[in-house]
Amino acid sequence: MRARSITTHFGNDHERLDGLLRRLAAKLRRDPTAADRLFREFKVGLERHIRCEEEILFPIFEAKTGLQDGGPTEVMRHEHRQILGLLNEIHGNLAGRDPSLEEAIGVLQGLLAAHNHKEEYILYPAIDRSLSASECDDVFAAMQGPKMIRIHHLFVSPGHNFFGHHGGPPGNHPVIEVEQIECVVGRGIRGDRFFDFKEDYKGQITFFSLEVFEALRRELNLPDAQPAATRRNVFVSGVDLNKLVGREFKLQGIRFAGVEECRPCYWMDKAFGPGAEAWLNGQGGLRCRILSNGWLRRSIS
Ligand SMILES: [Fe+2]
Ligand SMILES: [Fe+2]
Repeated sequence: MRARSITTHFGNDHERLDGLLRRLAAKLRRDPTAADRLFREFKVGLERHIRCEEEILFPIFEAKTGLQDGGPTEVMRHEHRQILGLLNEIHGNLAGRDPSLEEAIGVLQGLLAAHNHKEEYILYPAIDRSLSASECDDVFAAMQGPKMIRIHHLFVSPGHNFFGHHGGPPGNHPVIEVEQIECVVGRGIRGDRFFDFKEDYKGQITFFSLEVFEALRRELNLPDAQPAATRRNVFVSGVDLNKLVGREFKLQGIRFAGVEECRPCYWMDKAFGPGAEAWLNGQGGLRCRILSNGWLRRSIS
């Protein structure tokens, strides 16, 4: 008996996403801020789920069985396009509180129910039967790998607000959200406060997990908390950043070396609210050195 199965893992993820969508539908009129937050979490989760299927799971199944054109994965890919199309339509209408929103969410729930049923009762069990235990482990490892990382926000700040201001008043340098950043080997992000800060500085670029940030907002009830206030450079989803400590990884063709956790500081309580520093302990993000030159671009709007 293998420790993990595709059917259980992906089936549980369907259940989680269905739950988010149900809660979102219930909050739509009564609490628009909570609905927006749930939608963001749902969208990131569903897009990642589909990418894991299309980029990792289906190709392995197709290679093993030879079933590609006209096979079950082709049907699933086609349904994904419909589901993602509707998801983007809902995204576009959410801010305007379009009256057709409830109906569109109902249609999405129906599409997902039919799609998930086929995967859970036909495709996933077939994949479980066709993969060896080690191939199944490869799927789980790939889902945690850099291939699944998505960039949601990129920030630079020209000067230090807190760093070096310990005990004194914070500075007021803005944090600027940008569409792309230029990473320079050994020096940092051009235009950022840590560019050429020190030779071989260990925090040339910092990463932060969007999933951690969403959980912080939810659990400490901080709906207005903004990613920029973390003063980290790159907001990503789809990766456990702590697992990249001591490892090299590649993102959008650029190589980075994970150095250490970017530990939360006392000013996190000021920036977000009481308890933020303690809550973020152990998940404050990742400090990295830049090992090759290139531009990082936002991959998700
Ligand atoms: Fe799917
Ligand atoms: Fe699925």
